[in-house]
Amino acid sequence: MKHISLEEKNKLEKIYQDFLNNPLIIRMQKIHMHRGSNAYVHSFRVAKLAIKRAIRKKKNLDLESLLIAAILHDYYLYDWRDNKALRKKHARRHPFIAASNAKRDFNVSDFVCDIIKSHMWPINFKFFQKTTEARIVGNADNTIATKEAFTSIKYKTKRMDKYMEYIKTLF
Ligand SMILES: [Fe+2]
Ligand SMILES: [Fe+2]
Repeated sequence: MKHISLEEKNKLEKIYQDFLNNPLIIRMQKIHMHRGSNAYVHSFRVAKLAIKRAIRKKKNLDLESLLIAAILHDYYLYDWRDNKALRKKHARRHPFIAASNAKRDFNVSDFVCDIIKSHMWPINFKFFQKTTEARIVGNADNTIATKEAFTSIKYKTKRMDKYMEYIKTLF
């Protein structure tokens, strides 16, 4: 692992915990995601993986923005299964909805918004990932989404307990 100071680590952990316990974010537990997951568990898993990969890179990255963007990348807050029109456009549209919700509720920076908006590249072909931070979040999302898609619904409850435990801390 790259050297990341204890101070920096604590700062990131604090940001993570504040989101984890924020009632606005807890609403994401009600948003269905992939097979037997929800947007809350999914997003914090993506955040943990993205931070791990970012620290491994020997590069000066904006870890704080990366973390916030990873947590909020799917902060779109609707169930796309509810409505046929939403379902059709979901893959392309949700990054923009998530970014605008993130701006409204957390006043995130444009840098964070860009990471959120580009997380579905290349499906949203015009919104390519311009920064390393954006590529790390997009790739971490793919890894976690693939894992979620290929796990059996049969063990959903057991798995969810495990993941709720797993996401309790960033480090
Ligand atoms: Fe997404
Ligand atoms: Fe996602």
